[in-house]
Amino acid sequence: PFQVKVASSGATYEVAANETVVQALQKHGIEILTSCEQGVCGTCITRVLQGECDHRDLYFTDDEKAKNDQFTPCCSRAKTEVLVLDL
Ligand code: FES
Repeated sequence: PFQVKVASSGATYEVAANETVVQALQKHGIEILTSCEQGVCGTCITRVLQGECDHRDLYFTDDEKAKNDQFTPCCSRAKTEVLVLDL
């Protein structure tokens, strides 16, 4: 598990091992638009302000992944304990 922090509110939410970031935020009324939910379409792309992403998508190039400034919360996770999202 890891945590996601919503930059606009400062609130932090736990993402359990068996759920996605999108699902974890949805439980708290924060909706991220999704389509494929498999890391293919790019619909859910969210900016990352802090923390290291564990990219699991097929959408970004390796260079884009290395920049670590956006990720696909429908499937990607975090390598650090907290990921701060530009939401
Ligand atoms: Fe398609 Fe996340 S919903 S990449």
